[in-house]
Amino acid sequence: MQIFEPLESWGPNSEDDTTKAFKMVKHNPKRILEVGCGKGNSTLVLAKLTNAEIIATDNEELALGKLDEKLMRHSLNDRVTTKCVSMTELDFGTDKFDVIWAEASAYIMGIENALTKWRSLLIEEGVLVFSDLVWLTDKPSKASINHWKSDYPDIQTVETRKSQIIRAGYELKHTFTVSDRAWKDYYEPLQQRLHEVTPMMENSQAVEDIQNEVSLYKSHLGEFGYQFFIAKKV
Ligand SMILES: C[S@@+](CC[C@H](N)C(=O)[O-])C[C@H]1O[C@@H](n2cnc3c(N)ncnc32)[C@H](O)[C@@H]1O
Repeated sequence: MQIFEPLESWGPNSEDDTTKAFKMVKHNPKRILEVGCGKGNSTLVLAKLTNAEIIATDNEELALGKLDEKLMRHSLNDRVTTKCVSMTELDFGTDKFDVIWAEASAYIMGIENALTKWRSLLIEEGVLVFSDLVWLTDKPSKASINHWKSDYPDIQTVETRKSQIIRAGYELKHTFTVSDRAWKDYYEPLQQRLHEVTPMMENSQAVEDIQNEVSLYKSHLGEFGYQFFIAKKV
């Protein structure tokens, strides 16, 4: 958190990608549940695109506090609320959602686990939208394999995720790769932040790991990337 706290983006996302994914949902949701919203980059986009009631959840109070401030500034706090809760403990009684939105967050509890657990929170034909880091090549380099083997051992191909989505009781409506812009907006400020904190955090394993990750984004992006999946409950 010492590294990430001041950064606006805690994952690769952009207004254009969020908007593109939302347009693929193809219905006008009344209730949206966002999971792992961070400081709310996508929350604000969804609020602008809809008149829906939105519940934005994360387990990091600090991020939700920043999002609350933004919601107040944009007079959205009557329709968009935040809730500090773990994605593994989402419980809204009998309330269901038209759309569940999870950008760069479902991997935390495991994609297959999230697909299964969150399905019961959707209305019939409700839509789950999530983005996940995937292999974009059949032949990734050793550098990429070694890095993700320890940082995201469950990284899969798009085809594998598609099969898992279908097996979990969804129809895959659309899928697309997140833009390079979203990556740049994520890792350029992160690189800058690493320069700032390195003198204060000498010998920090976290700094070293994140620096390795940023170097890999720069040299090997294209072998892997974030992929949006728009999946309808069937
Ligand atoms: C990679 S960030 C993505 C944030 C945001 N969706 C974005 O795309 O910028 C992952 C988010 O998941 C949150 N998170 C981590 N573990 C969580 C948990 N168990 N339950 C809910 N949120 C969690 C983090 O606080 C963080 O905001």
